[in-house]
Amino acid sequence: MSKITIAIDGFSSTGKSTVAKQIAKELGYVYVDSGAMYRAITFYAMQNGFIDNNHFNIDGLVSKLQNVRVSFKFNEALGFAEVYLGNVNIEKEIRTLEVSSFVSKVATISEVRELLVQQQQKLGQNTGVVMDGRDIGTVVFPNAELKIFMTASAETRAKRRYDELIERGDKVVYEDVLRNVQERDYMDSNRKDSPLIKADDAIEIDNSNLTLQEQFEKVLQLVKITLEDC
Ligand code: DC
Repeated sequence: MSKITIAIDGFSSTGKSTVAKQIAKELGYVYVDSGAMYRAITFYAMQNGFIDNNHFNIDGLVSKLQNVRVSFKFNEALGFAEVYLGNVNIEKEIRTLEVSSFVSKVATISEVRELLVQQQQKLGQNTGVVMDGRDIGTVVFPNAELKIFMTASAETRAKRRYDELIERGDKVVYEDVLRNVQERDYMDSNRKDSPLIKADDAIEIDNSNLTLQEQFEKVLQLVKITLEDC
């Protein structure tokens, strides 16, 4: 059976990565979390003094970009690939609210996008891939056979992200998480380079009132229909 490319885009904390991982596992496809790559660059920028409080040294970061090695390594126990900066596993470090509060700004830098889009296209070459992000169906894989655009209310998404952060032991306040979600929605949708928009041929799923199982079944159904048409 031929393998397809599945692009899952949408606002932050819509549960894109959860369903993308489930679908990749079900099909035996590669899963790529493109947001993790933007987070890894943000973490690198914070560690190397290119982001200090609210001051961004964009030129400094851009001048070092070619030295930054972001990669994924599959973790058998977890069943998905974790993100590395050089040889260091930074999967946990990139999920903090601090990284979340700077990442949308880093994602506006055209040089960062150019570099990561190239790497994402390579990761999806010659194989079945499920990739989630903001511009996968519009820029990275405009010819993807299946494009999904996930939405849910900002409050629903903030509550999900808040529960996740609390579960991992972070001390956060719901209102701060909601503000972060709303600010990222605004920056992701209004940036000049590759703003978050639904591709014309993407299928929209609002999962505000769907369970994870219902969402998975809905996407799997779309995959089956797409595979039949290929
Ligand atoms: O999916 P996420 O919340 O981990 O993504 C983190 C940020 O990276 C998000 O605010 C926007 C940006 N991003 C992007 O601009 N393009 C992508 N393909 C993926 C993420």
